[in-house]
Amino acid sequence: MKCEHLVNPIGVDAVQPRLSWQLNDSRSGAKQTAYQIFVGTDSLKLLKGQADVWNSGKVLSSSTLESYKGSDLKAFTKYYWKVEVWDKDGIRAKTSFITGFETGMKGMKNWKGSWISDSHDVTTKPAPYFRKTFSASKKILSARAYIAVAGLYELYLNGKKIGNHRLDPMYTRFDRRTLYVTHDVTSAMQDGINAVGVLLGNGWYNHQSTAVWYFDKAPWRGRPAFCMDIRIVYEDGSVETISSGKGWKTSLSPVVFNSIYTAEHYDARLEQPGWNTPKFEDSSWKDVIFRSAPSENIVAQLLHPIRDVEEIPVQKFNKITESNYVFDLGRNISGVSRIKVKGLPGTTIRLKHAERLMENGHVDLSNIDVHYRPTDDSDPFQTDIFILKGNSEETFTPKFNYKGFQYVEITADQPVELSKESLTGIFMHSDVPAAGEIKSSNQVVDKIWKATNNSYLSNLFGYPTDCPQREKNGWTGDAQIAIETGLYNFDGITIYEKWLADHRDEQQPNGVLPSIIPTGGWGYEWGNGPDWTSTIAIIPWNIYLFYGDKKLLADSYDNIKRYVDHITEISPSGLTTWGLGDWVPVKSKSPVELTSTAYYYADAGILAKAAKLLGKEADFVKYNKLALKIKDAFNAKYFNKETGLYGNGIQTELSVALFWGLVPDLYKNKVAENLAKRVEADNNHLDVGLLGTKAILNALSENGYADAAYKVASQETYPSWGWWIVNGATTLYENWPIDAKSDISRNHIMFGEIGAWFYKSLGGIKPDPDQPGFRNILLEPHFVQNLNHFEASHDGPEGKIVSSWTRENNVIQYKVVIPPNSTAKLRLILEKGRNVFENQKTISTENTLMKIQGTDNQVFTKTLSAGTYLFELKF
Ligand code: BGC
Repeated sequence: MKCEHLVNPIGVDAVQPRLSWQLNDSRSGAKQTAYQIFVGTDSLKLLKGQADVWNSGKVLSSSTLESYKGSDLKAFTKYYWKVEVWDKDGIRAKTSFITGFETGMKGMKNWKGSWISDSHDVTTKPAPYFRKTFSASKKILSARAYIAVAGLYELYLNGKKIGNHRLDPMYTRFDRRTLYVTHDVTSAMQDGINAVGVLLGNGWYNHQSTAVWYFDKAPWRGRPAFCMDIRIVYEDGSVETISSGKGWKTSLSPVVFNSIYTAEHYDARLEQPGWNTPKFEDSSWKDVIFRSAPSENIVAQLLHPIRDVEEIPVQKFNKITESNYVFDLGRNISGVSRIKVKGLPGTTIRLKHAERLMENGHVDLSNIDVHYRPTDDSDPFQTDIFILKGNSEETFTPKFNYKGFQYVEITADQPVELSKESLTGIFMHSDVPAAGEIKSSNQVVDKIWKATNNSYLSNLFGYPTDCPQREKNGWTGDAQIAIETGLYNFDGITIYEKWLADHRDEQQPNGVLPSIIPTGGWGYEWGNGPDWTSTIAIIPWNIYLFYGDKKLLADSYDNIKRYVDHITEISPSGLTTWGLGDWVPVKSKSPVELTSTAYYYADAGILAKAAKLLGKEADFVKYNKLALKIKDAFNAKYFNKETGLYGNGIQTELSVALFWGLVPDLYKNKVAENLAKRVEADNNHLDVGLLGTKAILNALSENGYADAAYKVASQETYPSWGWWIVNGATTLYENWPIDAKSDISRNHIMFGEIGAWFYKSLGGIKPDPDQPGFRNILLEPHFVQNLNHFEASHDGPEGKIVSSWTRENNVIQYKVVIPPNSTAKLRLILEKGRNVFENQKTISTENTLMKIQGTDNQVFTKTLSAGTYLFELKF
């Protein structure tokens, strides 16, 4: 049971929170025929069926996702809910557990605190501490901290850090929307005197490093500030709120420099032990000053936070001298390193983080520092600086920065004794739950899948990024390409809903979006054509397909419309040249107009479908017509009916036309055949860039050439994903040649569509647009040659879907699990003479088989209800 797609969330501000649940019913054919939701403020009463807030009544529906429709929810209130369901036989099943959600501020009017900061300006480097003591006069029942920050923060109560989030709050366009975070601080409070401490970091709010995107000139820039209310409810029911304001004290901290982009510098000699505890003597601290709020729009941050997700031990250790060491984690990650070291007071230790080593064993930053424009040498790239207090073992981990790296080179200005255990890598990212798994008999395939997930996660920090080192930018193109990979593998809806709100904040009145989101202003001029910024349509549409949840599509509807209307305005012919084209191609270049027009077509189609879903009939008609017009213009210009080729017939041209549905039905087979021939002529290797990788494997496997697609996908020679893997990659790269001279980050998600393709083609698990959220699964696995085992599983909204096959002695065993409340349309392509058996009996009778034109193959279809199935496909 979830609320707003999270388990038991606190700080919910939605007017009608979405409630969703899964059936716990393993019987075959299990489904829900009706439900009834009960919401109340008293869990005991709710147990007895008394819902003092909302009782939905019995609703005849199989839906397991509903919005709250009771009376207005109050702020700061814990609501409990349960759901009763009626099963496939119409029998009322055991009622659910009781779970809950708690509302937050519910609007600006409930804030009591003021925005405060110290009196330094944006150029001041050290991060500020803030503290206040207060006494809790009575027995505490519960306490919550609501903290809104321009910048980053760590919150402490009585000396302890609150929560395990990292880099909160998530990055937004601070002057349009500022996020606040709710923490349950009940257990951190103590009777009598309490001390609250806040450390503020710069994050993207006060970008002091200088690089080509001018974040140092962002319109929102300011010295970090915060506003906080700690709301204490006493056992006698009374409420007391401790707020930010006058009476707080401030001092500079030992974090002497912090940049989200480059690194953090820490001088342990400046530590003030106990600064966040009640007894600390703060008379030398300064008074805080009031500051204006960064925006008028302070909203709840309700998503899976960034965390320290995994600790990576060092694999290799190289002592170069007494004061120079290189550590190798054995894999590429995003995050930070933690060092434990003992040395003389004042010893300065530099930790340089890199993805590559030079031949002489030192780290090499030359592939990732290319867009950095330092003005002096005080802010070295990806290099933390730690100054020791001295004499005992000390530990350092940056608080307000992360990096992309595999290697850490340590240089100290005095000898220090380090061992392999002195350093640990910490993989950080938005901690989205895993939602899928791939296992196969080909190790390279499994490693590609893992590397794809590593790159996906390395690029998820409250918004999707291109790479965790060189840029950390919310590049739209990379994210629209990776959306399916993301959603098959991870429960990412909360992050994308936040990021689409960032889109809405950044959209110009005329519909234009910047190429990176959020942005300090850069990107409205370059790289923001439909091949990149179609995120506005493609992401909500995929969220709808994967979750069956219309909300994001509805919230983004007007924005998609303005966006499509803008392209129409600048592209009256139906063709558009606005875009970057097939970025970082292997060799052949396809026309920008071809690829950008395909995206324009996709957007118009999504807009038409969204209009239909949201009951906007006139828009539906209008945008369908527009889509047709674009398709006609596209085919008139690029399609040659005689040859069945698009443009020059290169891989991207043919596959983009097929994948985005631009090829007239009559010619699909011909175009697909041409694509297969083209790929064969290219020696079954890729000849695509970013946009082509999205399309190529799907275009082949969806049109009868799954074996050819698998050949390309499983190559281990250049250019291919496997080529990176056999050369030691643990993440995906930005360029096909490993020794390329530019565009050479080693942790890019942009070529990551293959991660989705494994599910869609080899596993054959696809959402059905007519019954999204995998209520009906389009199940069409491809038992490709040269692969003997493949298994895909995906945790959809209704439960786990499994599609698993094994080939042995020419018999294929195919195992399927369809979760409760779901069905599947199974479609199997059989070679001539192969039949489908279930329980030893053939079920592929004449009337279940359909011949595929032009081949010897036949299609077997069957509708499956919830349950576990084992089919045998044999001659
Ligand atoms: C980024 C890409 C991005 C591209 C846009 C690069 O610098 O790293 O991933 O999509 O610019 O052209």
